[in-house]
Amino acid sequence: MERLVISGETPLQGGIDVHGAKNSSLPLLAATVLCHGQTALHNCPELSDVAAACEILSYLGCQVEREGRTVLVDATNVTGGAVPDSLMREMRSSIVFLGAIAARVGHADISFPGGCELGPRPIDLHLRALRKLGLEIREDRGSLECTVSGRMKGANITLSFPSVGATENILLAAATADGTTVINNAAQEPEIADLADFLNRCGADVRGAGEGVITIRGVERLESCEHTVIPDRIVAATYLCCGAATGGDVEVRKVNTAHLAGILPIFEEMGCQVKTSNDSVRLIAPKGRLKSVRDVRTMPYPGFPTDAQAPIMAVAALADGTSVFVENIFESRYKHAAELARMGARIKLEGRVALVEGVPKLYGAQVMATDLRGGAALVAAGLAAEGQTVIQDIKHIDRGYERIEEALRPLGANIHREL
Ligand code: EPZ
Repeated sequence: MERLVISGETPLQGGIDVHGAKNSSLPLLAATVLCHGQTALHNCPELSDVAAACEILSYLGCQVEREGRTVLVDATNVTGGAVPDSLMREMRSSIVFLGAIAARVGHADISFPGGCELGPRPIDLHLRALRKLGLEIREDRGSLECTVSGRMKGANITLSFPSVGATENILLAAATADGTTVINNAAQEPEIADLADFLNRCGADVRGAGEGVITIRGVERLESCEHTVIPDRIVAATYLCCGAATGGDVEVRKVNTAHLAGILPIFEEMGCQVKTSNDSVRLIAPKGRLKSVRDVRTMPYPGFPTDAQAPIMAVAALADGTSVFVENIFESRYKHAAELARMGARIKLEGRVALVEGVPKLYGAQVMATDLRGGAALVAAGLAAEGQTVIQDIKHIDRGYERIEEALRPLGANIHREL
């Protein structure tokens, strides 16, 4: 089993490019199912979740090939509508393929994405919305048999929670529906706007993406196009956390600074200097100890993103004072706390609240990545800790970070992967 071995206490210095967004690439790859011809997705990161999405596309009959950071998908001859359970389980967000497959071929046979490290991953909002769009869904012992005769039908949908995945599923199902669809209380994450930009480039008519109400006027057919995936705002935040935790001076490049607006003030509150230019952000950690953060409440975009909660907690673990975290998005997203505690962090969990009492120093230890962002938090903590940290189960980290050890080494990180 692969593991990361880190020797800490080296302040990271220098600049690092940020790769394309995992959480944009996945729905974009699902959207290619709707397009006739060969789509080119540029700046598509080399991640295991992206590879899993490409496997699903191939299974459906698409021609898929990767040329460096460009993924080419030709969905002209999509025939299949079934995705095997093994592939569905490989990636939580595989559910976002449902709307696109059903809209393209008129049926879809997939399985429930099981619960995962963040707690149950219900899909009730997805299914209720797709049923309103005319998809007949039969749930049978964990599998979903879906059919629609002819095109989906436009509908007026109000989401009880601005679910990212459900908003994406509706966009994909409604783009070629007969009639107009309105999504009220839609997710406003940048990845939604990126998906809408892609669909419009393929001939769709989507307006209002990035706001609370999105209107989709269905069109008969989508053609393929070229599209560049937006930068990964969570990877950018993670690299900045590594800079802050090690008392370093790190610049993340090729980012969209507007997408980081909910995160950068937290670094400033901790005493870091943050300088943004058009596509980069430089963070200079304070000479002395970091300051604690009064409260970090995860919220839907443009609030503080839940995906940055774990990496920021690793930084707060070293701050002078107690920081309060409230995880409002997922039921169980503090599994990294126990692993950070093995390194000397003092964290008290009470339901959705985590009280992080900062300590002057963390110590290297044997730890396990519990999930994608929790694993990234352990990397940040290991880079700051005295001594050696060994992180097991790093397949979680590889789902969302392109060869993280190779990315961080040019900044002076003493980190390598052991087989
Ligand atoms: C997306 O997950 C991201 N994944 C997550 O990133 C991210 O944390 C999340 O959005 C929130 O921003 C991808 O884009 C691939 P949601 P998603 O639907 O779509 C509940 C990472 O680390 N809910 O907005 O699954 C759900 O249980 C990952 O990169 C329902 O109750 O998130 C959760 O509590 C982790 N019913 C909340 O809503 C539903 O039908 C937010 O879920 C759907 C969701």
